Amino acid sequence: FDALPAVSFSIIAHIDHGKSTLADRLLEMTGCIPAGVGNRQVLDSLKVERERGITVKSQAVSMRWQGTLLNLIDTPGHVDFAYEVSRSLSACQVALLVVDAAQGVQSQTLSVLRIARARNLRIIPVLNKIDLPAAQPDVVLAQLEDVGLDVGSGGREEAISVSAKTGQGVEEVLARLVRGARTHKEARRQDMRALVFDSWYDPYKGVVALASVYEGTLRKGDRIASAASGKTYEVLGIGVNSPEPVSTGVLRAGQVGWLMMNMKDMSEAAIGDTLHHAHTKVEPLEGFKPSVPMVYAAVYPLQAQDFPKLEDAITRLALNDRSVTVARESSAALGQGCRLGFLGTLHLDVFRQRLEDEYGQSILVTAPTVPFRVTAQDGTERTIASPAEFPAELRAGHAELAEPVVRGTLMCPEEYVGSMMELCAEHRGEDLSIEFDEGKSGKRQVRMVYRLPLAEVVTDFFGKLKSRSSGFAAFEYEDDGYTASDLVKLSFLISGTPVDALAVVLHRSKAVATGRAMARKLRDVVPRQQFEVAIQAVIGNKVIARESLKAFRKDVTAGLYGGDYTRKAKQLGKQKEGKKRLRAVSFGRVQIPQEAFLSVLNSR
Ligand code: GTP
Repeated sequence: FDALPAVSFSIIAHIDHGKSTLADRLLEMTGCIPAGVGNRQVLDSLKVERERGITVKSQAVSMRWQGTLLNLIDTPGHVDFAYEVSRSLSACQVALLVVDAAQGVQSQTLSVLRIARARNLRIIPVLNKIDLPAAQPDVVLAQLEDVGLDVGSGGREEAISVSAKTGQGVEEVLARLVRGARTHKEARRQDMRALVFDSWYDPYKGVVALASVYEGTLRKGDRIASAASGKTYEVLGIGVNSPEPVSTGVLRAGQVGWLMMNMKDMSEAAIGDTLHHAHTKVEPLEGFKPSVPMVYAAVYPLQAQDFPKLEDAITRLALNDRSVTVARESSAALGQGCRLGFLGTLHLDVFRQRLEDEYGQSILVTAPTVPFRVTAQDGTERTIASPAEFPAELRAGHAELAEPVVRGTLMCPEEYVGSMMELCAEHRGEDLSIEFDEGKSGKRQVRMVYRLPLAEVVTDFFGKLKSRSSGFAAFEYEDDGYTASDLVKLSFLISGTPVDALAVVLHRSKAVATGRAMARKLRDVVPRQQFEVAIQAVIGNKVIARESLKAFRKDVTAGLYGGDYTRKAKQLGKQKEGKKRLRAVSFGRVQIPQEAFLSVLNSR
């Protein structure tokens, strides 16, 4: 591998436009994986990712084609992971922009294109699925021109038409990549610089870093230094993935591969760090901003005594997913747990599923919350990641509250404009602009830009967007800072005992409706007691919703008149057993069966 000219590239696309299928075809044609085993999606190596059909973690695979080394760096395909896309692209020179020839340019096509341009990548547009009868390559080419790409024949960004499914046209993609490769001649004279863009902990090998070498040559045995920490290391092992790890002893400019150094701790393999030879002085490469969690949720074990095992599993998973933040938290009803920070709700779902699938943990996840910000009178700011941290002194006007907002772009066919506007209004959206896009494609598309509170977007916004537009609307968003907001903490009490796992921070305008709905759901799961049970939704000490459950005495023997004693005893015994089997969560004197309580927790 080591002497070949090389190029690093990524495939970027809107969801389902065929990114993974194209990757599989490229891997097959270059002999990395055997051909004809169907759509195997080698890069999606984790079970969750396969099940959900999404790609989460970036991975790199090196292929050989006509004397050139082509390094494919995988990028995630969901808007939740925009940060990860930017991270992966920072290690590339070329981006293959895949567009479904039947569906055309979608919102996420635009957002990934924007990231690729910001990284100064060479863009090769690929029209995929041209085997479909509904494919309209000319229309899509016109759309691509509309967004500023020079896609015409002989153009700077000439498009390639392919069917990733049948393999038609895919060879041309390889040929174009080969033309973009760099030779090592100039590399020899340069000081080595490599960007660490991923790292993980391997139980056998220890800390492994994935690095892209920008200039120079990096060899096994070299003494290298981290630009961030100044610490020095020895390169103990170095190689590429093809797709299995292969030790090559060297990585040169344009190559991407793995690297083992004598690092003891994961925190030393800082993502975005520049590595250089210890005896040289170099400018650090342009890294990328560290990720900021946008959604928090607490995770508790179903059985309180399982917390140590859960915490261990969380720590291990978080080592391999550096964008997750972890802090301990405890709840009166649920015991000890962890509060985790994620890039978005999908990220949270994937993490939850991995805890369950890969670590066999039975867990309970509280409602997701976004990071709110409190500014005290003296100007000090802090972020609250949990309703428990909501300041009590707020009512006196001592502090100012703000919530994160996003700038969202919604694209849909004209006929759905009305329902999409309604949806955004329901979610406290503020419209910034609307454009009817005739384009050269002829089909009237609408592009609306909204400012929306992040808290509204992380609920079921995507689900509603899809169902109310018959799947035709696309939405992507980017961070747009914080805005002052009238936020309150909504808490729930059962017979006066707080149900801390259900507390939420939300906008005042949503408090009453949410309070009522949740109180009703709680009433439905609380078993009748021998005393009246009050279920209250409160803000501060003001009750905004109330439900009550009348006292009731369950007499299991009532239906059995006469009869003999043994029958009665058997019946009583059954009741006792039933009680033992059902695990319960206690709130003062009231116990709620665990499953029922979970259903309320999950219903938000
Ligand atoms: P994410 O990983 O979710 O971003 O999706 P993706 O972009 O990787 O899409 P994927 O490769 O999973 O393809 C989505 C669907 O389109 C799958 O059902 C593929 O079989 C299908 N598909 C991909 N390429 C082609 C093609 O060239 N022709 C046809 N007819 N179908 C294709």
